[in-house]
Amino acid sequence: MKRIFLKTVIGIVVLCILFSLLACVSGAASAQTAIPKSIINTFGKDPTTGRCFTWNTSTAVKKSVVEYCIKDEFKGFDKSNISRATARSYEVKNDLDKRMIHKAELKNLKSGTEYVYRIGDTGGYCEKGTFKTAESDLKSFTFINITDTQGVTVGDYAKWKNILDKALEKFPSTRFLVHTGDIVDNGDKTNQWDNFASAAKSELMNLPIAPVVGNHDVLNKNRTNSNAKNFTDRFNLPAEQNTGAPAGTFYSFDYGNTHIAVMNTECGSKNFKSQGDWLRKDMAKSDKPWKIVALHRGPYGATYNTTDIRKAWVPVFDELGIDLVLQGHDHNYVRSYPLKKGAVVKPGKGTIYMVGNSGGVKFYPQKSRSWQEVGLQLKTQMYLAVTVSDTEMVINAYDSKNALKDSVTIKK
Ligand SMILES: [Fe+2]
Repeated sequence: MKRIFLKTVIGIVVLCILFSLLACVSGAASAQTAIPKSIINTFGKDPTTGRCFTWNTSTAVKKSVVEYCIKDEFKGFDKSNISRATARSYEVKNDLDKRMIHKAELKNLKSGTEYVYRIGDTGGYCEKGTFKTAESDLKSFTFINITDTQGVTVGDYAKWKNILDKALEKFPSTRFLVHTGDIVDNGDKTNQWDNFASAAKSELMNLPIAPVVGNHDVLNKNRTNSNAKNFTDRFNLPAEQNTGAPAGTFYSFDYGNTHIAVMNTECGSKNFKSQGDWLRKDMAKSDKPWKIVALHRGPYGATYNTTDIRKAWVPVFDELGIDLVLQGHDHNYVRSYPLKKGAVVKPGKGTIYMVGNSGGVKFYPQKSRSWQEVGLQLKTQMYLAVTVSDTEMVINAYDSKNALKDSVTIKK
């Protein structure tokens, strides 16, 4: 009897250790508290005068606030020159917990100005962060593109932090990150979103993201239909309407001399035509000379031959003279020739389509396609640095050791 008891106790102890090890490896997130977590900052419609934030807390926090001030005038968050933006807050129940999602928008900011901020309320605040609004007369800037950071464990997301840090080391003045989707492996698993945000917590406090929705980001419980809420709960993005694609999953913004439109390839194909029409109207409203589209399932990748998107949107990109399409999904490095109507054209006369391999742990074999000028599978994370000036756009591709692997210049 004594022996059976002892065996049972040992069994329970072993199981407990196994469970905690498993929790540690898969990164079971720590419980929500009053202190804001998973703080993500994004652009609103106008990066020169606004900034948007999303964060989580425990359900006890009904009111949460962004406190901010021009950096040069900052003397403390208890001073009278602090501005406050109260969040729109709502409770969600997910696979992990119940939590509050908070979204706030800062408006009427001064262009080209550095601000300090913190988020929270009397229950506690996050650490101080900084952001800079875009200058209205900006002539040249760099942004980075990382894609498919999708992972399961904490270790997987350490790869994403590493490649982001490499990019920030090489380009400390980068203005923002375009993430071309599959941010997480399973959008219905809350701990993956938490791991993504906590891996690069300090970087994301000071770096805005322009996220693209990927197929993995919007998986629902049974991994079938798209559940856009798994994406829209994480990012406070302009709510464009009337295409049939969910609001907050496609949007655009001007930055310096560039107009960037983000499209949604993942919430059914019925909205492709209306999203194409939206892009026409959207680009027509902008007078910026450079035009970039970011999307997840690209028309010209390598692994996949994505004919539905190619048919629906390439004629629109051709018509609008899109300079660069940043893609994801294919998990290898691709740079297309300049293309128009599916044919190779002279530099500057068509659109270049690129996939920046993967910022996570998944790599697919390189498939050769007729449209590829460069295809690489280095089996290591990569990022693209896009530097835009009035006369040229330089796109450099780096690996996780910050070695330059490819470069292309588009002249205007
Ligand atoms: Fe994907």
